[in-house]
Amino acid sequence: MTKSLFDSVTLGKLDLPNRLAMSPMTRSRSYDGLASELMVEYYAQRAGAGLIITEGIQPSVIGQGSINTPGLHTDEQVASWRKVTDAVHDRAGRIFAQLWHSGRVAHSSLYPDGRLPVAPSAVPSGGHMISHRGEQLDHPTPHALTLHEIAETIADFVAAARNAMAAGFDGVELHAANGYLIHQFLSDNVNLRDDEYGERTRFALDVTHAVANAIGPERTGIHLSPANPYNGIEERDPSTLYTSLLGALRPDLAYVHLLEIGNRPLTKHLRSVWPGTLVLNPHTGIKPVAGMFASAEEAAAALPVADIIALGGLWLANPDLPARIWAGGPYNEPDPETFYGGDRRGYTDYPPLAR
Ligand code: PHB
Repeated sequence: MTKSLFDSVTLGKLDLPNRLAMSPMTRSRSYDGLASELMVEYYAQRAGAGLIITEGIQPSVIGQGSINTPGLHTDEQVASWRKVTDAVHDRAGRIFAQLWHSGRVAHSSLYPDGRLPVAPSAVPSGGHMISHRGEQLDHPTPHALTLHEIAETIADFVAAARNAMAAGFDGVELHAANGYLIHQFLSDNVNLRDDEYGERTRFALDVTHAVANAIGPERTGIHLSPANPYNGIEERDPSTLYTSLLGALRPDLAYVHLLEIGNRPLTKHLRSVWPGTLVLNPHTGIKPVAGMFASAEEAAAALPVADIIALGGLWLANPDLPARIWAGGPYNEPDPETFYGGDRRGYTDYPPLAR
């Protein structure tokens, strides 16, 4: 039978009313690491998604890589997220927390003690962070994690995943894409280690399985972006790397979420080696910037390859996206000026379809 975006589908132990997930998107409207009232409204407006995956949330102080991003490592942060999950559940939605450790894509000014960001090896990204004052601060050469610190980092992910459960989330997604910490371990150019973590898939597998053991595999997803050079990542042989990673992940995880970088044959191959649930973002570009978001037509065309389609820009600008796709549009256009930071403008004021 042909799949439709409007089919119900199971993910872990959840029943989703449609196959339309909301992709994780940084919106930089969190202050002191807390989920704000504005964020409560934003996520509640989008509760019609089959699954909401939140913006990246740092699992620890050192996991933060950008200004005004939220955390899940203090009791106050947990309490702030509880308001978000309650509001989404009150509207019959489902929501996973994305745990995002930025690794080297970060700056010392984010940390109270001014320490260096961390990475598998001491290789700088070549990029920069935008400060509160709008300056470009070069990402420094990171501190290479010791084996002891790697164990602590895994424990931080586990603690944040438990915090996500305490905050009422339905599960967590581990961010192993787009050049952040877990992806740095998967890469050829940032992982120059000669210990057991020099085996590229080891850290991703250890984090995923530690979190799955703590909160349940059916509540644990992982986000991957094979062949994405974003944030200075080099992968010599993505097909072999991700085939090996997918083969070693436990198939009873909630899902694998692939961000496709314009290579549908690679996606199809990875689909064929992953027996579990596949969430696919049929992204058409390399950098997650405006003008490169997938359309509703591209979403429908990609569905045969996956179980669930994750979309970014369309959800950002259309809180009632399923109704709009059902009606064949029209769609509000996402405004790049208001993507990162600011107030309700370009955040909670995109109008629903007139009835
Ligand atoms: C961003 O803030 O632009 C961003 C964050 C996380 C990603 C990708 C982009 O995975």
